Parts: sequence; C-alpha cells; structure tokens
Amino acid sequence: MCGIVGAVAKDNIVPVLLEGLLRLEYRGYDSAGIVVANGKLHRVRTTERVAELAKLVSIEKTEGLTGIAHTRWATHGVPCERNAHPHFAGNDKKIAVVHNGIIENHEVIRRRLQEAGFEFLSDTDTEVIGHLISLHLEITRDLREAVCLAAAELQGAYAIVVIEEERPDRIIAARNGAPLLLGLSKNGNYAASDASALLQVTRRMVYLEEGDVAELTSSNYHVINITKNKLGEKVRRVELETDLTREAVELGPYAHFMQKEIFEQPVAIANTLEMVFNAHSLSPRLFGSEAESVFQKTSGILILACGTSYHAGLVAMHWLEAISGLPCSVEIASEYRYREPIANPDTLVVGISQSGETADTLAALKYAKSRGHRYSLAICNVPESALMRQTDLRFLTRAGPEIGVASTKAFTTQLVALMLLAAVFAKLRKKISEKLEQKLIDGLRHLPIAMQLALQIEPQIIEWAKNFSHKRHALFLGRGVHYPIAMEGALKLKEISYIHAEAYAAGELKHGPLALVDKEMPVVAIAPNDSLQEKLKSNLQEVRARGGELYVIADADSSIQESEGVHIIRLAEHAGMFSPILHTIPLQLLAYHVALQKGTDVDKPRNLAKAVTVE
Ligand code: M6R
Repeated sequence: MCGIVGAVAKDNIVPVLLEGLLRLEYRGYDSAGIVVANGKLHRVRTTERVAELAKLVSIEKTEGLTGIAHTRWATHGVPCERNAHPHFAGNDKKIAVVHNGIIENHEVIRRRLQEAGFEFLSDTDTEVIGHLISLHLEITRDLREAVCLAAAELQGAYAIVVIEEERPDRIIAARNGAPLLLGLSKNGNYAASDASALLQVTRRMVYLEEGDVAELTSSNYHVINITKNKLGEKVRRVELETDLTREAVELGPYAHFMQKEIFEQPVAIANTLEMVFNAHSLSPRLFGSEAESVFQKTSGILILACGTSYHAGLVAMHWLEAISGLPCSVEIASEYRYREPIANPDTLVVGISQSGETADTLAALKYAKSRGHRYSLAICNVPESALMRQTDLRFLTRAGPEIGVASTKAFTTQLVALMLLAAVFAKLRKKISEKLEQKLIDGLRHLPIAMQLALQIEPQIIEWAKNFSHKRHALFLGRGVHYPIAMEGALKLKEISYIHAEAYAAGELKHGPLALVDKEMPVVAIAPNDSLQEKLKSNLQEVRARGGELYVIADADSSIQESEGVHIIRLAEHAGMFSPILHTIPLQLLAYHVALQKGTDVDKPRNLAKAVTVE
C-alpha cells in the first residue's frame, strides 16, 4: 500500500526521500511523487517507478532542506499523475500533503469545501484533507493548529505529513489508524510509514499513537495528542533504537526478496522458538504475562485473519482441536466483521497477521470485542504494529522483515507460534504428559534442520516449474490439516505467476472440480504419510484416470510410486505433526520458480500490496 517519507534536515533531503521511497517500493504502488520546499514548493510526480522519479528530480535539479515524498496505491481515483501524491492544497497551492489510508467522510467535506470556493484537481480523498487544512489555516495562521482542527473532522484512517511554503523549516505529521513513525538524528528529523525507509539515516525512532500530531524541525520535535482536545495536549512518546538492520531489508546475494525469505525460514523458525529452547518447557507466558489466567478461563478459540494468515489459522484449527481438545473456528476477517456472530465471552479471539496493519483483521478484532468476546491474542511479525497494541495477549513471530508481497517465512513462523499455542493449551488442560511435552520440544528443536533438508529439493522443483509456466490453470489437493497447505500453495502460485490456481479438499473432487481435469490440467497433491494417505491415493487415481498430470509431494518412505503422468518429490523425512510446515516449502519454491520462468515481478506482483491497510 502507500508509503510516506518526510524530512527536515540540515542538508539536502532529496537523496533521503528518494532512498526512503525505494525502501518502501515493496509495499506496492502505482505512482510516486515528491515535493521539496525551496523558496517555492517544487513538485515532481510520475506513474513510473521510483527510479524514474529520481531521474526526473535530477533533471530538474530539485534540492532543499525540507520535503515530503510518497508512493501511492490507488484507492480513490485511477492511477495517474493527477492523482499521485503529494497534493497541493489551498487555491494558492502553498501547502503540500501526502496521505496513507482512507477518509470515509471525504464526500461531505469535499462538497463543503467546493461551496467555500476550493478547486479540486484530483479524484483523491487526500486533496480533501489538504484543502481542509488550508481552510483552517486561513483562520489559525498556524499549520500545526490547522492540521489538528482538520484531523478532528476526519473520519477513517490516515497518516499524513504536511509542509508549507511560508514555513519551510518544519513538517507536521499526524496519524490515526494508519502507521506513522518519526526518525530522529543529529542531522535532521524524519517521518515515515515504515522504519525501513529511515534506516539509511537513523535507528532512533518514535512510534506515533492514534490521534498524535507531531511537529518536526531539523533540530527538535514535539508530539501532541488530539483525542481529548481538538488543539491537542502535549504527550511524551518513547524514543527507541529499532532492532531492524539494513541487512535485514537488503537483498544480499539473492535475486529476489521472496527467494531470500524462503531460504531464511530455518533461521526464522529457530529465532521464533528461542524462548522455548531457553526455557525447556511450554509456558503460557510465551503469550504474555497475563496469559495463564486468561487461558485458564478459555473455553474455545476464534481465529480471525486474511490471506496467508487465514491459512495458518485453518491449520491451527486442526492442531488446537486434536492436541488440546479446545473447539476452534476460523473466519476470514473481512467476512466476520459484517455478519452477526454469536459470541461466547470465554472464547479467546486470536488475530493473525504478518504486518499487524491489515485493516480487515484490525476491524474484525474490534468487532469481536464489541460482540462480547472478553480476551484477544495477537500473533504478529511486527512488534510496533497496531495489532500488537490492540490485544490483551501477544506473540511476536521472529521472522524478521518480510519484504516480498508473497508471504513465506511469516507463514511458517505463524504455524510454529500456533503449534506452541495448541501445545500450551494441551499442557494446561492436562492433555499431554511431561514426556510428550519434552518430545514435542525435541521435535521443535529439530525443525530448523528439517527445513534445511526440505529446501534441498529446489533442483527438482525447478524441473517441475518448466511444466507449469505455460499452463493457464492448476489444481492443488490436500486432505485434513494439509488442505489449508494446498490452499496456501494455490494462493502463492496465483499471486506471483498469475496462473489461475484453486485448492480443493481432495475428497471434494468428484463433487464438481473433476470436470475440469484433462491432460492440460496439472494437479499438485500434498501427500504426507498420514492417516488420510490411502484416501488421498484413491482421489489421485480419479485424477489420473481423466488424464490429469499429477505432481505429488510425498514423504521419504511414502508408498506412492512414480509412473507415467505421476511425478513425485519426496521430502527427506516424515515430520509427523510438523508436516504442514515442511510441506509448505516445495509449494513456495514451485510458485517462485514458475514466476521466474514466466518473468513476472516476483516481489511486487501486479495489483497487490504488502500490507493491506485499507478495507
Ligand atoms: O499482514 P497480514 O498477514 O495480515 O496479511 C494478510 C494478507 O494480505 C497476506 O497474507 C496476503 O494474502 C499475502 N500476499 C499472501 O502471500
């Protein structure tokens, strides 16, 4: 989704703004722009990539000490230069604004502003914010106060950064419902929607909270909050050194972030499990200091999530019910928030999200609370995200920054976290003995090595990928806990290779999808040595009998045999209950190599964004 960078410094800020935008490219965008205060407000915008914006900026020799920049992912108005940010505001164009989020009452405000004589040059809700600030500025004569008064009128989500021609020595930043942070350094102060944009200049950060408005100069900053008082009350926010390193957000020897992130999984999982390995036991404290008392009262689990995180939830449902005996339901967050569910107050609501900023997941969690659920738990990969601040309990997956739009290491670390959750409940509910607990911990300890071994199948996957790159459709089959893994495989393939892929519970084939199967249809089957293997084999026969080409991901000692039209890749070992985690790897690699062969933009697939911060 959109990205913001703002800077007010003692040197030319243009290189910082451009480098910041490059770091935010992974979030997805369709236009980019920059405004620099340099006597006048000087603006450059393009519907090309940031590299093209940089060329235009250098041709125009744009330089200055204060500026704002933005990558836009279109919501209101088509992707075009006219709709690209920054937007000028006021009919004299003396203010410039960038914005992430969606303003829900923009139409009402737009009409009011048009009646007041403001001219609109774009279709965006952002221009409404700009003109509203300008309207207030006519009266207050102070940009910060004008931003406060305008913000108080906005409904919806926003992170905004504003500069003004008359006072080029400062920038004003405000947030509500969309992430925004400040970066502090001796050389200047900065604002951005994501810490990775500012690592080039500083590691000292301040995360703004809902209703915060910050004023920054090159040597100072202060924050006020407008939640109780429209003009704001002074607040102190913690300054912290971010753990994020530049290496973590750089490609290193890899060709793509997705490839890097697939191969980082053994380490990501080991990092996520570090606390368990140190403690040698499964304690509810893994989920927060209050977890034990909450878990004692928990009589069921409701999981809310989107996309890949939803698939992790579906796997967890199998684990939670089978291992801990707790009833569990899983819902797509964007659907849950608009129905009228019956809430049991003692059902723990679990929100799963890599980014912790997915608008639907955040809204669904709030809604669950309003329906009467007492407690909530976040499983998330971003410590300072909105989700982590919204719930009673939390577990941080330690996958490290995930830049590729296709989620990989975040998914497998979510699965590890959810396995821990199931095991902790099983222990509390006396469903597992101490011996079994230790066996489980030993299994977890072995997991990073098992992942390393699973990654070694890459050469065979590259061969398979050659048979997929010219196909238009593919089916993915799984049964039981591996059905959500088939769903994840299909999602990975479609999002980065644009091949239409669907997943089915294999037993469902003959109820409809079998009609699609012919020799043009590759069918990928997740076939571990579990209790459903014999059933799955019969389903595979049904496919083969219709000429479908089978690509089977089996375990080392599987009885499934290779034959004409049946290709088999065997994982090095059978991972028992961890099998869904290992069986994910071939599917991620398959999607990656098919996309490579098709030449699509692996890390930034068309139309998609990394963090879906709008509904
Ligand atoms: O950040 P989240 O985990 O909440 O994101 C949810 C989905 O948008 C995300 O998993 C999406 O489906 C991925 N692009 C899939 O690879």
